[in-house]
Amino acid sequence: MSAKKRDSWGSAIGVILAVTGSAVGLGNFLRFPGLAAKYDGGAFLIPYFLALFFLGLPIAWSEWTMGRMGGQHGFNSCPGIFRSLWKNRLAPYLGVLGLIVPVIIYMYYIWIESWCLGYAWKYLTGQMNLGVEPATYTAHFTSFVGITADGSFFSHGLSLPITSLLFCIVLNFFFIYRGLSGGIEKVCLWGMPLLILCALIVLVRVLTLGTPDPSHPERNVLAGLAYMWDFRGGLAGLFHSLQNAEMWMAAAAQIFFSLSVGFGVIINYSSYLKKKDDIALSSTTAVAGNEFCEVSLGGLITIPAAFIFLGVAGTVGGTFGLGFQTLPVVFAHMPAGQLFGFLWFFLLLIAALTSSLSMLQPAIAFMEEGLDLDRRGSVSLLGFITLIGTGLVVWFTHDLAALEAMDFWVGSFCIFLLATVQTIIYGWVIGTRKGRQELESGALLPIPQVYDFIIRYISPIYLITVFAIWIHQKGADSLTAIRSHPSVRITLLFIVAVILLFLLLIGRAVRVWNAKEKSRS
Ligand code: ALA
Repeated sequence: MSAKKRDSWGSAIGVILAVTGSAVGLGNFLRFPGLAAKYDGGAFLIPYFLALFFLGLPIAWSEWTMGRMGGQHGFNSCPGIFRSLWKNRLAPYLGVLGLIVPVIIYMYYIWIESWCLGYAWKYLTGQMNLGVEPATYTAHFTSFVGITADGSFFSHGLSLPITSLLFCIVLNFFFIYRGLSGGIEKVCLWGMPLLILCALIVLVRVLTLGTPDPSHPERNVLAGLAYMWDFRGGLAGLFHSLQNAEMWMAAAAQIFFSLSVGFGVIINYSSYLKKKDDIALSSTTAVAGNEFCEVSLGGLITIPAAFIFLGVAGTVGGTFGLGFQTLPVVFAHMPAGQLFGFLWFFLLLIAALTSSLSMLQPAIAFMEEGLDLDRRGSVSLLGFITLIGTGLVVWFTHDLAALEAMDFWVGSFCIFLLATVQTIIYGWVIGTRKGRQELESGALLPIPQVYDFIIRYISPIYLITVFAIWIHQKGADSLTAIRSHPSVRITLLFIVAVILLFLLLIGRAVRVWNAKEKSRS
């Protein structure tokens, strides 16, 4: 569409690693183990793998397909791609979800990324020698994040938490400025193998811990693994766990968050492929790579390590509690804990960086192709918008209210909406026959025929059912949070403002695209 030279990937392995890099993030190493521990270990894996096969994998295939199709029409952004695939005036405006989801998730994700940097730095420089008392690490985290009161993140002047955040922001925009193959692809080509190496070293350490505390013989590696993977309470326990609707929702949401499906990212990344490039094998490889990192690395490190040193009590901290409070206690007990602590937070940092970069690229693509901005302009505009959002997140730190609100309304609610829209466009607007032809063009892997049926019927029904139960269960809590916390209301107003801003920009882009097409015909 645009006369400017379009970005493209440098190699097939580059795009696979970039998509895998987007997928592998904090969700794999912190969120997944936290959820598995919360929802009865092995029982969680049943809804988790069902969501993978009936939602994650089919929607990932469809996103890759739609992205490459849109790219053939000259578009890389979700509004442009939807407009080119669906001749409906509303289509580009639905694409707003593919912009605001990654951009708003970036606003809080970058902050968590900066915690990883800060912690890695502290381990590297020996500043994490805080003893073995869990309370000390909780106090450290509380002060690092400023969780006790709004504005307290800024109370220590230009401290390590603030410099880490500024550094991460600059790092992300530096690589985004360098472009697709010069920035994102290079980071992922180096970062992904490094991340897996660090994770394997930490994993070997955890699996060879044996029974570190003789006074607690029940806390050993095998018991830690069993705690993570067994059905608690046998078959009766499993049956009981499976009746928990919240677990089914959490599993589906985890699949989306972890695979970066319904994020607006894959559709953007795959739009830079060429018509004959394979998407079937690449997409499946990226999903498999993510699952390896999530189940085989994340699943074997976090909870077993916490269990071995702290017993069941150590496994219940949730995403942030586990990652930033419990695991530092574990490293304090471990021989060479400083080294392993550094490796752990460094690998989290790389995982987060390759994901946060992918959250910026969709909006950059839109600003360049829709608003005719050059790279400097798009980076400046997006930098400005995201800075305001991140500013809000790091100001309203009391109980992490702004972060939690963005994570709920955008990181879960809007992801479900976008995934539903994509399923409908692929399964019903484009149609599975045409979609399959496109998916099979250049394919290096046959995709089973049953997939057409799944994406057309099963995925939307699954999605809408889970979504409805979820709204039913969580809706009231969220409305209470909105009513009782001014910071949540301000955050929601901000989200609405960002959506309106992007809708206005899309309106302008549509006029530009229409005019260009008219002048060509
Ligand atoms: N997919 C990324 C993660 O799991 C966002 O953290």
